[in-house]
Amino acid sequence: MQEGIFITVEGTDGAGKTTQIALMKDYLESKGYEVVLTREPGGTSISEKIRSLILDPENTEMGILTEALLYAAARAQLVSQVIRPAIEQGRIVICDRFVDSSYVYQGYGRGIDLKIVADINRAALNGVTPDITFFFDISPETALARRINATGADRIEKEKMDFHMKVYHGYKKLALLYPERIKTIDSRRSIEEISLDVREWLDELLG
Ligand code: TYD
Repeated sequence: MQEGIFITVEGTDGAGKTTQIALMKDYLESKGYEVVLTREPGGTSISEKIRSLILDPENTEMGILTEALLYAAARAQLVSQVIRPAIEQGRIVICDRFVDSSYVYQGYGRGIDLKIVADINRAALNGVTPDITFFFDISPETALARRINATGADRIEKEKMDFHMKVYHGYKKLALLYPERIKTIDSRRSIEEISLDVREWLDELLG
């Protein structure tokens, strides 16, 4: 049986990933592919439990290394239980965030050495790497301005802007480091324009 394809989707919060993932799935299914949609952190019952642990606002004392290890643990479970089997069965896997999120949020954002992020994830990935990664590129400032226009100002989000900008610049650096794999999609445009761009890359990938 032919090996499947592994697609990952990345971007800062509010970059419009969710909408584009749904459109991507519809498009691939309309072409007859079997698509498995999953997300990080999460995607298995164990990984969802780890997700609750990481994202619980009460866990204020959690260290950045602990957090990075928990993301990697959730990832190890998802890779072995969902992603690898689906790829081996010839399916297309779309994962909402993957190891690049750890590079940019834990590495560039929180300041953990990128080599350490790579080391703790090597075992978790166990050789599974994305065939293509879509980086939905919109500056957090632009995304926030859009949301403020739509819903009114959000003080807490403004306080977090510095962190989100570090993450955003981290993505830009990763995209420069791995131009073959990471496709930067200008996400300041309309949903339709962005989606057309994504389809072109998918068509090229699927041949
Ligand atoms: P989520 O609510 O799924 O956000 P989004 O809709 O933006 O994907 O929360 C996931 C959060 O976890 C998001 O802020 C990014 C962060 N994250 C990391 O810091 N490291 C990681 O390795 C992953 C997968 C996510």
